[in-house]
Amino acid sequence: MTDDVSRLLAADLVDDADLAVEGTLRPRTLAEYIGQREVKANLAVLLAAARGREEAADHILLYGPPGLGKTTLATIVARELGVNIRYTSGPAVERAGDLAAVLTALDERDVLFIDEIHRLNRAVEEILYPAMEDYALDVMIGKGPSARSLRLSLKPFTVVGATTRAGRISSPLRDRFGATYRLDFYGEDELMAIVQRSARILGVEVEPGAAHAIARRGRGTPRIVNRLLKRVRDHAQVHGDGRVDETTATEAMRAMEIDDEGLDSTDRKLLAAIVQKFASGPVGVQALAAVLAEEVETIEDVYEPFLLRLGFIDRTPQGRIATDAARQHLARLGFEIPPPRRAEPEMVGLWGDPAIGPG
Ligand SMILES: Nc1ncnc2c1ncn2[C@@H]1O[C@H](COP(=O)(O)OP(=O)(O)OP(=O)(O)O)[C@@H](O)[C@H]1O
Ligand SMILES: [Mg+2]
Repeated sequence: MTDDVSRLLAADLVDDADLAVEGTLRPRTLAEYIGQREVKANLAVLLAAARGREEAADHILLYGPPGLGKTTLATIVARELGVNIRYTSGPAVERAGDLAAVLTALDERDVLFIDEIHRLNRAVEEILYPAMEDYALDVMIGKGPSARSLRLSLKPFTVVGATTRAGRISSPLRDRFGATYRLDFYGEDELMAIVQRSARILGVEVEPGAAHAIARRGRGTPRIVNRLLKRVRDHAQVHGDGRVDETTATEAMRAMEIDDEGLDSTDRKLLAAIVQKFASGPVGVQALAAVLAEEVETIEDVYEPFLLRLGFIDRTPQGRIATDAARQHLARLGFEIPPPRRAEPEMVGLWGDPAIGPG
């Protein structure tokens, strides 16, 4: 159960069935893509200009937490340009030769999507620099003192890179993107629209109250609301007549141990660790990762962004701290709340209450 729930919310983990459904739910045009208004407006201009000039579009870097629609947007870019798209990812390209092979196979103005672009290794990155800048491929011929470099030309193309954090990309690579767009968490109204759109595609009847309940617990993330919708639909099918009303939706999500803020058990474990084991912090992310048996990268990319956004944790130079709001949330759920190491004035009332804990 716990495994299933953390899979559901860990926005980067997908099984085959989820992948197939994600494909059908994926918007195909900019007009169908809900939210991210500013990104869409800028992108529309960039794409129209490239089409007008009949040139390859500028290289585009997309960054933001998992599940917000980077891959979707890359697919839309190619579609709006009327070109083919090739998908690859940082970890998938092991050697410089692998990338050279992909690059030489591109047609004029094609899009090359590189997911997790921050994970490209150094040697591969160096092939990419001249390719992006001059549509050139530098190959070494021979070995030792007689080795020389030969420059081949490539057809103009567009790289769309995606990463969870722009700061992880080396600056020479970052400089080669003409446009960088940051995707942000979606608002509740946008998520509700996404739930309703997905429900239409899946042929599920979802009452507005239920769509809202799902949107509220969707952690600002389209992929998560889509998965919640599917599990809620299953619940409605098994326990009701298949129609999704608010009660069914809320019950289903409660059964998945998703609380009213959309936090899952790992989120709560993370917050509880900071609050209970580290007296609300500050605590370094390595120490947290060790306590939770999670990767530092998973904590930073999957869990923290939304907790930061909710105002449940803060990042300070000394480490992460759990906020008053986080303690109150956990207290409501029945967690024991020891007093924080750093006494904050607004907490005097709460900590002075003998019913809750020592003053
Ligand atoms: N703006 C949107 N409108 C409607 N649905 C969306 C939107 N963005 C994403 N989705 C849905 O969310 C799913 C996840 O999106 P996508 O795979 O593009 O995320 P991602 O940012 O690439 O995630 P990751 O970083 O994990 O690769 C898509 O299958 C799509 O159904
Ligand atoms: Mg993706």
